[in-house]
Amino acid sequence: MTAPAPDFPAGFLWGVSASAFQIEGSLTADGRGPSSWDAFTGEEGRVKDGSRADVATDHYRRYREDVALMAELGVGAYRFSVSWSRVLPDGHGRVNDKGLDFYDRLVDELCAAGIAPVPTLFHWDTPLALEKNGGWLDRDTAERFAAYASVVAERLADRVPRWITINEPAEVTLLGYGLGEHAPGRQLVFDALPAAHHQLLAHGLGVQALRAAGAREIGIAASHSPIWTAGDSDDDRAAAALYDTLTNRLFADPVLTGTYPAGLASLLPGPVAEDLRTISTPLDWYGINYYNPMLVGAPQPTAAAADAGSSFGGIEIPPDLPFSIRQIEGRELTDFGWPVVPDGLRELLATMRERYGDRLPPLYITENGCSYADGPDPETGRIDDARRVAYHDGHVRALHEAMAEGADVRGYFVWSILDNFEWAEGYRQRFGLVHVDYETLARTPKESFAWYRDLIKSGR
Ligand code: NOJ
Repeated sequence: MTAPAPDFPAGFLWGVSASAFQIEGSLTADGRGPSSWDAFTGEEGRVKDGSRADVATDHYRRYREDVALMAELGVGAYRFSVSWSRVLPDGHGRVNDKGLDFYDRLVDELCAAGIAPVPTLFHWDTPLALEKNGGWLDRDTAERFAAYASVVAERLADRVPRWITINEPAEVTLLGYGLGEHAPGRQLVFDALPAAHHQLLAHGLGVQALRAAGAREIGIAASHSPIWTAGDSDDDRAAAALYDTLTNRLFADPVLTGTYPAGLASLLPGPVAEDLRTISTPLDWYGINYYNPMLVGAPQPTAAAADAGSSFGGIEIPPDLPFSIRQIEGRELTDFGWPVVPDGLRELLATMRERYGDRLPPLYITENGCSYADGPDPETGRIDDARRVAYHDGHVRALHEAMAEGADVRGYFVWSILDNFEWAEGYRQRFGLVHVDYETLARTPKESFAWYRDLIKSGR
């Protein structure tokens, strides 16, 4: 028997998320410049199903229909991202008003529907001109991000109640510059660390630029996972601690405490101590993207396993890295191969409180979701994604428990409103509450949509 439905506090914000490159399409419309992801998806073999995002869900042209769906869902907020290349086609300098106009229209449409717009300024699609200059390896990109943040805030801050600077700098660093699985496809391994520092600097400068332009309620959206140790040797524990440092603490420590984890500051470029003061500019809130815990141990001991390295959810971890990622056994897996561990969210929120105490501002879960391929029943057209309902139900309950234990969480955003372009996986991973038929671009709400609508309505 399932436990009774817990009540959430009045005013708790229920939302949905998406990002520009994953849904908009219209990549050359209205003067948009190319981004790192336009280039990456144009390279043979980068995206597993060979797809591109030229059309994606066609949200750029169908945003009104999508906002109407959100209104039907009853969400209080929509987290989207602004495409830097639409606003500044060269990444800096000339402002493309037509690009900015799109977000202006979107924000108006959302406000008219009573949905709070929550823009993220950088969700992985670096303007190509900046990428060619080194992208996040180049310190100038941080300065340029701040200038871009001012341009967007000057246009939208009068209607936007809550902002996000950067989404998941850890993934951009690790997957984009470290392992080459994402744009820009660099395989620098530990030499990717400057990309972390410059994104963090961009975040800090961005907070300051946003505030100077009148923006309020500024946060970041960072990915966090509880790190579980595989095995019980000292090497396993050291490997898991290193992975925790590189994925969780490398980003949260500087933002929340103004320090880098021990030993890292000396590996980073520029006047790091001074930069840390900028990076730790106080935030109004902190956003957590949670999907699953990670099970990490020392590199695999047998020669055969060591040759193969390890993999997780489609990401290959080279054998020469000082850790390996193992599958968590005994848990249901999503269609992406990610284990379903709702209690990991409660555990993570407890760890964040232990680690950061009073330095932790109010929290939002800025992403939580799962990939399941369920499509329309050929006879009824109904999309019965019971596994997605169970996933969110479990996570929302775990969140409630965490709040009962003292976590100050103010809102929860489902990833994602629509099925969309899942980066190197292309269209084959579907995270949406709404199904997208990529032939016709028809939108069909899944059962999970009705489940979320009922939850929002009742608050339980
Ligand atoms: C994190 C990213 O922010 C988002 O773009 C991605 O689609 C989801 N996780 C699912 O992988």
